Amino acid sequence: MNKRNILITGGAGFIGSHVVRLFVMKYPDYNVINLDKLTYAGNLANLKDIENAPNYKFIKADICDIEVMLSIFTQHNIDGVLHLAAESHVDRSIKDPFTFAKTNVLGTLSLLQAAKECWKDNYEGKLFYHISTDEVYGALQFDNTLFTEATKYDPHSPYSASKASSDHFVRAFHDTYGLPVVITNCSNNYGPYQFPEKLIPLFINNIRNKKPLPVYGKGENVRDWLYVEDHARAIDVIFHKGKVGGTYNIGGFNEWKNIDLIRVIIKTVDKLLGNAEGTSDNFITYVTDRAGHDLRYAIDSTKLKNELGWQPSLQFEQGIEKTVRWYLDNQTWMDNITSGEYEKYYDEMYNGR
Ligand code: NAD
Ligand code: DAU
Repeated sequence: MNKRNILITGGAGFIGSHVVRLFVMKYPDYNVINLDKLTYAGNLANLKDIENAPNYKFIKADICDIEVMLSIFTQHNIDGVLHLAAESHVDRSIKDPFTFAKTNVLGTLSLLQAAKECWKDNYEGKLFYHISTDEVYGALQFDNTLFTEATKYDPHSPYSASKASSDHFVRAFHDTYGLPVVITNCSNNYGPYQFPEKLIPLFINNIRNKKPLPVYGKGENVRDWLYVEDHARAIDVIFHKGKVGGTYNIGGFNEWKNIDLIRVIIKTVDKLLGNAEGTSDNFITYVTDRAGHDLRYAIDSTKLKNELGWQPSLQFEQGIEKTVRWYLDNQTWMDNITSGEYEKYYDEMYNGR
């Protein structure tokens, strides 16, 4: 196995922590450097189990700081980047689009520039892997269409606009400077360590605490859900075998209308808490819809399956039970996040609806 020096940005976040864990454990010969600013969403507790691994190092830094990025690339002789650092929550982007433009667009640009400067004499064996989202493709109607790699970009929220813009910069660096890049666009992830502002952990925690479950609009929007460890496995396969300059969609062919998914969550939490079926149904509370709420996302990941043989490993029913069990078994992790500052933010957000 080749020795490599891999920079993973956003490794203290939800998906990043699973990617860091996978790379640290699977590739003992790689030096894995986790670079994260530790915003409200970054949490080193997500990586407790591997923090002392000899091939792991954490650096607290902001991707927008180009000088720091340049010095990290040089000092650690970085030859591969897995770029996950981002502002990731649509509702926050509606309130504060500038932070999203700064981190997601300018932060990505500063990393690209650092990679270009440090690798320009020899692109051989180097790769800049940009992790993006299906939201760049806009919204589907209630029909059988799916997002493919050829679907035109049509972002609607400040979050998806900032991610689309970062994707364009990554492609521009490939086309203009020959930077070796790959981009993936993935559907909604779920699983352990997700920040509880996102639907699934929020609802599990609210059911446990007998709090209202705020369903946006009529709950009819559709999302395509993938277990986070399956996403991390796809990233591993694409990082090692993906076509340079290519794009891959990642998804589980697993569409759920929000309200149906919410009923599955309620049923699973009630079952695991030993409550009678239906106990928590009346926590469902319909609230004002999200502005510009995309109707439906659904990913076609056929290319990834055909070219690289990846497919999801978990059935949704198994994945959701595993996830609910994890949150119920890790209440301290959850309570450490939801007490204090975040509790205030959430109450304001909820009351604003
Ligand atoms: P997250 O919000 O849980 O984590 C983001 C991480 O980035 C945090 O650790 C945060 O501290 C760090 N970060 C933010 N700004 C930074 C900065 N300026 N410098 C350095 N670090 C910074 O996000 P996530 O859900 O794990 O998403 C990770 C990536 O995957 C994002 O790029 C997101 O767009 C993409 N994605 C997410 C999903 C999903 O369902 N969650 C699906 C598809 C794609
Ligand atoms: O599709 C990939 C995207 O999935 C990622 O790029 C984003 O980073 C990630 O946050 C996620 O975006 P969504 O907006 O789809 O996820 P969220 O968990 O915020 O919401 C899922 C659906 O549930 C969405 O239709 C809005 C709805 N919802 C969400 C919350 C938080 C509610 O009805 N009530 C809620 O309280």
